[in-house]
Amino acid sequence: MKPIQVGLMGLGTVGAGVFEVLRRNREEIRRRAGRGIELTMVSRRQIEAARALVGDSAVVVADAREIIANPDIDIVIELIGGTAIARELVLEAIHAGKHVVTANKALLAVHGTEIFAAAREHGVMVAFEAAVAGGIPIIKALREGLTANRIEWIAGIINGTTNFILSEMRTKGADFADALKEAQRLGYAEADPTFDIEGVDAAHKATIMSAIAFGIPVQFDKAYVEGVTKLNAADIRYAEQLGYRIKLLGITKRRDDAGGIELRVHPTLVPAKRLIANVEGAMNAVVVHGDAVGTTLHYGKGAGAEPTASAVIADLVDITRLHTADPDHRVPHLAFQPGSLHDTRILTIDEVVTSFYLRLQVADQAGVLARITGILAEGNISIDALLQRESAEGEAQTDVIILTHDTVEGRMNTAIAQMQALPTVLAPIVRIRKEELN
Ligand code: NDP
Ligand code: HSE
Repeated sequence: MKPIQVGLMGLGTVGAGVFEVLRRNREEIRRRAGRGIELTMVSRRQIEAARALVGDSAVVVADAREIIANPDIDIVIELIGGTAIARELVLEAIHAGKHVVTANKALLAVHGTEIFAAAREHGVMVAFEAAVAGGIPIIKALREGLTANRIEWIAGIINGTTNFILSEMRTKGADFADALKEAQRLGYAEADPTFDIEGVDAAHKATIMSAIAFGIPVQFDKAYVEGVTKLNAADIRYAEQLGYRIKLLGITKRRDDAGGIELRVHPTLVPAKRLIANVEGAMNAVVVHGDAVGTTLHYGKGAGAEPTASAVIADLVDITRLHTADPDHRVPHLAFQPGSLHDTRILTIDEVVTSFYLRLQVADQAGVLARITGILAEGNISIDALLQRESAEGEAQTDVIILTHDTVEGRMNTAIAQMQALPTVLAPIVRIRKEELN
């Protein structure tokens, strides 16, 4: 059978990985797909750099629209990134009747509804395995392998850059800025690393998983997003003393009691004995809890050229196998049939239920602890553990660390405001959410 022809828009870290893996495993991939998959056109603006990589194995163009205009191209891969030009090109490719593969989570989390609707209208597939957790086939697992389940919650380390930074800080005492520079050098970070360290990239991925898990539209604008930039080395140490690790988690959870879904990204204390707490460096891990299967853990490289290429090429093979199928009988983009999506609301952060780590810098004098615990008791917030640092000789202040049981965030906000107003609380109270994940 005639090989399927592929055009690649964007030849950076991931694009180069796709080129290399397709070249190296060409025969193995052909045997799996049932026909050859040929990368016949490549586009990047620095055309000479692209030529130096691909040689004469593919036509190189500076203008990605030449790929879309080529009637021989069956599948377009978008690896440019961002939500501006990438959105235009993806929509143009769909309108031209091309199937699309993308690793662009920002694009799908923000414009997914528009893109999937256009794809349905034109009978083409948009595949995005690489958009969440790099090389881990989590989209396939959620959309197909776990399809029998009512998914209850998902919690994942889904940003390699921040996990790398947190690991370097915890295990080597590395400085935040140095660890970030190293993650950028290794090709893990987004073009704008603010997206990584402020939790935005993880929120893009959590948004996509939430849609697939619960059969709701992608709603990035409703996600609660908090990154790692305000984390303090002291909190990493105190967490360890209490048997916890701090990880940036993307969490989405069904909350039937509140009639909604939690969708949030924030630093989280996780018991050190959990497997996910031991995921280090740029590795990713996603825990999915389904009613039938129980808890499953999906682990692997979440960023980098070849791990991401692995997911991009899996999509190419899927499309190659399925593109002759009647569009109504393909796996739906968001796992649920488009007419069966629900409009279940995303809960506000005030409605979210978690337990908390609190660190209070307080005057070391009689009655301070009693007033603090009194405020928590009045708020019906139950204390799980309490630690007070022994103050040094002559030191007039100390740190009090409190772990709470589950409570509604809104109630905790009220208690924190009351504690903060005490004259004996000397600095802004640090609050980190905690999840037992059991
Ligand atoms: P890079 O910045 O390394 O590569 C982007 C490429 O796009 C460059 O080759 C750039 O080259 C090219 N480009 C930019 N504008 C255009 C344009 N108008 N037309 C054609 N080419 C263009 O990004 P990555 O490879 O790291 O990431 C690509 C995508 O994959 C992003 O969406 C990212 O979020 C996602 N991703 C990345 C992962 C990673 O580990 N890096 C992992 C998972 C997903 P030039 O400037 O010469 O045009
Ligand atoms: N910047 C992302 C990360 C790339 O660090 O995880 C993978 O999506």
